[in-house]
Amino acid sequence: MQQHSARSGTLLCLTGALIAAAVAVTACGGNSETQATPTFPTEVSQLDPQLVAEGKDTFRYDTFGDESFWTDKLQMNQVIEQAVDPLTAAKVGLKVDADALPANVVKGIQDGTIPLNDPQTTLALLQMNAVVGAKGQVSTGPDGKLHLDRFGITCALCHSTVSKDVHVFAGGTTDLAGIVGHRLDGWPNRDLQPGTILSLSPALTAAQAAEYASWFTKYGSGFYDPRINVNTDPGSNPAVGSDVDANLAAYKRTGGIPVVIPPAFGLIGLSKAIFTGDGDVQHEPAGPVSYWNRYVGVTQMHGHGTFFDERIIVNGKPLQVDHREGDDVVTAVLPGLEAYQWSIVAPTPPPGSFDTVAAQRGKVLFNGKATCVSCHSGASFTDVNTFGLHPANASVALDKNYIKFSATKQWRTTPLKGIWQHPPYFHDGSGAYDTATAACKDGSSIGGAAGGDVVTDDLTCVVNRYNASKTNGGFDLQLTAGEVADLVQYLKSL
Ligand code: HEC
Ligand code: HEC
Repeated sequence: MQQHSARSGTLLCLTGALIAAAVAVTACGGNSETQATPTFPTEVSQLDPQLVAEGKDTFRYDTFGDESFWTDKLQMNQVIEQAVDPLTAAKVGLKVDADALPANVVKGIQDGTIPLNDPQTTLALLQMNAVVGAKGQVSTGPDGKLHLDRFGITCALCHSTVSKDVHVFAGGTTDLAGIVGHRLDGWPNRDLQPGTILSLSPALTAAQAAEYASWFTKYGSGFYDPRINVNTDPGSNPAVGSDVDANLAAYKRTGGIPVVIPPAFGLIGLSKAIFTGDGDVQHEPAGPVSYWNRYVGVTQMHGHGTFFDERIIVNGKPLQVDHREGDDVVTAVLPGLEAYQWSIVAPTPPPGSFDTVAAQRGKVLFNGKATCVSCHSGASFTDVNTFGLHPANASVALDKNYIKFSATKQWRTTPLKGIWQHPPYFHDGSGAYDTATAACKDGSSIGGAAGGDVVTDDLTCVVNRYNASKTNGGFDLQLTAGEVADLVQYLKSL
C-alpha cells in the first residue's frame, strides 16, 4: 500500500553537546573515513542524570524571556490580574502544582476557605510558582493588593498536566479533581484551551481573536496551531505581509488548522520528531527533539533565540525568525531539555483498563491481517528509524492539509506507547467518537462499543478509519466487528 523506498539512515557524525546528551556514537574518530551510524539512547539509564535534571528545570520553569511577548505585546499580565480567577483558569485548562504549595494552602483550596473566584488567588498561586507552565512576577501595591508585573509561559503549559488524586470541593459538592495535583510532565494537557487564552489578549485583531477562540468551539480542548502565527503575524515572521487579517484569511484558505497537543514522552531513540518528522540532527545538531523545542521556544513561545529552516517557505522566503534581544537563551539549554524529554517514558495502562485475552487476539491482528506492524514496528511502534517518513497517503486522518505547512511534507508513523493516555487520535483529532452525532468524526459507527470509555470509543474510530474502504480513505482491511474490538483492546494495552 505504501512505497517503502530504501533509505540510508546514516546520520551526521555527532560531536559535542549531543554526545554529552548521552548519544553513543560508534566509529566517530577524528578523521572519520566512514560516516558513523549514531545509536540514539534507547534506555533512560544511558542519559546523564545531571543533564536530565537541568532539562527538567528548563521544561517546567524556563520562559526563555518570552515575557517580552506575553507581557509587553499580548498584555496577558493585565488580563490575568483583572479577570482570571482560579476557576476561570481551570476552565481553560490551567493546572496547579500541589507540591509547590504549603499543606495549609492545599487544604484551603480543597475545603473552600481560599476563594477560587478571585483573581488575587491566581496571583498568589503565581507568586508561589504553582501554576503549571506559567511564570509570573508578582508585587504588592500600596493598596496591599497583588499585581502581576510580568507573565510568561513554559513548555509545561502544553506538555504537562496534574494527577487527579487531590480532591477539590471549593466549598461546594462538585469534585474539581484534576485542577490541583502532582505534575505529570510529558503528558499533553488535553484540557488546555490555548486559543481561548490567546483570544483574551487586547493586542489581537478581531479576526485573530475570533480565529483563536474558534479552536475550542470547533475542535474542543487540547488543540493548538503551531503554524498559524508564522504564516499570519508579521511580528512573528517578518517575511509575511503587513496585513494580519489578509494573511490570516489566506492561511485559512490553504487549510491551516490547529492540531492535538502530543505527548512529550516515549520519544527516546527516535531519529525524527513531530507528526511530520521535521526534527532531525541534520536540521538541529542538538537533536531531533531539540529541533522542535527550538521551533516552539522561539516561534511560538517567543523566547529569545533564533530559528531557521530553509525547507519551510513562507511568502517565498525560508522561515527565519529572530527573537533575540541581544541574547540567545534557547540554544544552550536544548541538550538538557532533550535529555529530560527522552527520560520520560510512556506511562503504562492502569491495571484492569483493558481485556487481556482480547488484547492477545488483537496483537495477532496488529501483526498480521490488520498490517499495522508494517509501519508501527519495533519497541516504540514506529518505523521512523528503520524506514523513515511516509508520503501523504499514509495518514488516514480526515485533514489532508497540515503537512503542507511542515518542512518535510511527509508523515512520521506516530509512536503508540501510552496512547491510552491521550485521546483523541491523529494529528487533527479526527480519530474520535462524537457523542453529539453518536458517530465517529468520519461518520462511521462504533456499534456495541459506544458508551464505553472515551479511549475505547476513540480507538474504535481509529480502527474504523483504517478499516474503511480505499475510496473512503482507509486501507480496506476487511476486519470484522469482533476483530476491530480485539484490536482496540490491544491498542489500549500499549
Ligand atoms: C502552546 C502549546 C505548546 C507549547 C507551549 C509547547 N508545545 Fe510542544 N507541541 C505542541 C504542538 C501542537 C505540537 C505538535 C506539532 C506537530 O507535531 O506538528 C508539539 C510537539 C511537540 C513535541 C513532538 C512530540 C513528538 O511526537 O515528536 C515535543 C517533544 C514537544 N512539543 C516539546 C515541547 C517543549 C520542550 C516545549 C518548550 C520548549 C514545547 N513543546 C512547547 C504544543 C506546544
Ligand atoms: C502506512 C503506514 C501505517 C500503517 C499501515 C498504520 N499506521 Fe497508524 N499511523 C500512521 C501514521 C503516519 C500516523 C499519523 C497520522 C496522523 O496523525 O495524521 C498514524 C497514527 C496512528 C494512531 C494515532 C496515534 C496518536 O497518538 O494520535 C493510531 C492509534 C494508529 N496509527 C494505529 C494504527 C493501527 C491500529 C493500524 C493497523 C490497523 C495502523 N495504525 C496502521 C501510519 C500507519
